[in-house]
Amino acid sequence: MAREVRAGLSRNPRAISPKYFYDAIGSDLFDAICELPDYYVTRSERALLEEHADSIVGLAGARALVEIGSGMARKTSLLTKALCDRNASPIYIPFDIAPEAIDASARALLDLHPRLRVRGVVGDFGRDFGRLAVHAPPADGTRLFAFLGSTIGNLDEEAAPALLRSVADIMVPADRFLLGIDLVKNSRILNAAYNDSQGVTAAFNKNVLRVLSRELDGEIDEAAFEHLAFYNEPLQRIEMHLVSTRAQPLTLRAADVRIDLGGGERILTEISRKFTRASAERTLIGGGMELLEWIPDAQGMFALCVAKKA
Ligand code: AVJ
Repeated sequence: MAREVRAGLSRNPRAISPKYFYDAIGSDLFDAICELPDYYVTRSERALLEEHADSIVGLAGARALVEIGSGMARKTSLLTKALCDRNASPIYIPFDIAPEAIDASARALLDLHPRLRVRGVVGDFGRDFGRLAVHAPPADGTRLFAFLGSTIGNLDEEAAPALLRSVADIMVPADRFLLGIDLVKNSRILNAAYNDSQGVTAAFNKNVLRVLSRELDGEIDEAAFEHLAFYNEPLQRIEMHLVSTRAQPLTLRAADVRIDLGGGERILTEISRKFTRASAERTLIGGGMELLEWIPDAQGMFALCVAKKA
């Protein structure tokens, strides 16, 4: 973490990885974001899964569900329900950086489906993907790999295909990949989703400063930063920044960071890319996958992609 944070903050423009948003407070704030009227992302994906989870699991012939970045597994029960309806011994393999999240979501899913077997894997999907290889494909069924919530939108044009490729590398031809992506749409809707009137997204953004100070022995004056989020139309992505409202030092002793921020200087904390069918397909192809099914909602807000290893 120290190395990565130092590298990000030394870059021009300065950046902090969005993976550090999700400590206990950040995860609660993200839960609150998912409930915001303006944040359509979670509701749209949930509605699509409610309608299509059973046929996706059925067509995939899946006996195991491998969820990448499972987090609190908020929408997973829609897929595990289909998995349990269709299999005598269904398996759920959540892969996440947070062991507490795997533990909590495993318990919740086991309450819902007593027959489910859960085999959690802790790791960073940028790096520890090989740890999933210990769970070989079942002899009598396929695996459905799922990467939901538009988390892929956090990854840029290089990192997104690279991640897909690391998934494709451990897939066999019969396995399927389910990807949830947010769609390019009217910029007013996008800007509203990341600038809620209650300031929850702003608090979520600023919380990363608290995470860094705590983990890396720092002193950061949170009050001297402002939330900035906007849709970058040419790049088809939301950008979220923290803006230093005055010239100030930023010190993280454990990461050997001692920098001076200028008044108005921005730190990029997240990109959230928005896709079209064409750009999604391009990303999948770049990751060694082939799009089999394109499942957008009727409002053009969100889409599910079903793919296989090419
Ligand atoms: C969890 C990455 C999908 O990009 O919309 C929500 C995170 N950031 N509001 C997104 C987020 C600001 C979210 N993802």
